[in-house]
Amino acid sequence: MDNLIIKTLAENEQIPYELLLSADPSLEAINMYLPNSTIYLAHIHNEVIAEYVLYPLSDDDIEIKNIAVLESYQGQGIGKLLLKDATRRAIDSGYKSLLIGTSNASIGQLYLYQQQGFELSGIKMNFFIDNYTEPIYENGIQCRHMIMLTKVL
Ligand code: ACO
Repeated sequence: MDNLIIKTLAENEQIPYELLLSADPSLEAINMYLPNSTIYLAHIHNEVIAEYVLYPLSDDDIEIKNIAVLESYQGQGIGKLLLKDATRRAIDSGYKSLLIGTSNASIGQLYLYQQQGFELSGIKMNFFIDNYTEPIYENGIQCRHMIMLTKVL
């Protein structure tokens, strides 16, 4: 992916809501964290093909609230590159830990995050039951709990 450029959302750029919604189906939740977040967009030949969102939790901790790659570009290592990019930016900004959360049913994401150095650090029990109006299923399993993972930087 030599031609992949990752940079913050420019002032004149649209928020790629479709991508954000592919990672988090709640527009309400997205609109809650975006005002205090930084959005990073990955471009190939000026097309936005992926994004991630960094949300500071404290002076020491920062969370990847949302990460998504356009379906036609998935499975080519871009998710891995985004996690490495987020890690580098968090270190450069002086954070001590990088967090990410995903559902109990998101098997592929749990694999990817652990492969990239994140360790299980907590469970927000019934998070998806309490905060989402519609039931969400992945891999035939209901998303009930939020599994939190942390990478020490
Ligand atoms: N199912 C199975 N395996 C997966 C999945 C998946 N959903 N996602 C990644 N992997 C594996 C790949 O097979 C690969 O394994 P390997 O290194 O052994 O070959 C490894 O993880 C890295 O894969 P990438 O190609 O770097 O990942 P990709 O570019 O597809 O990006 C992502 C991963 C961001 C999860 C992408 O699939 C996506 O956008 N999915 C839809 C949105 C989503 O679920 N976002 C995360 C929600 S949680 C959150 O936002 C905090």
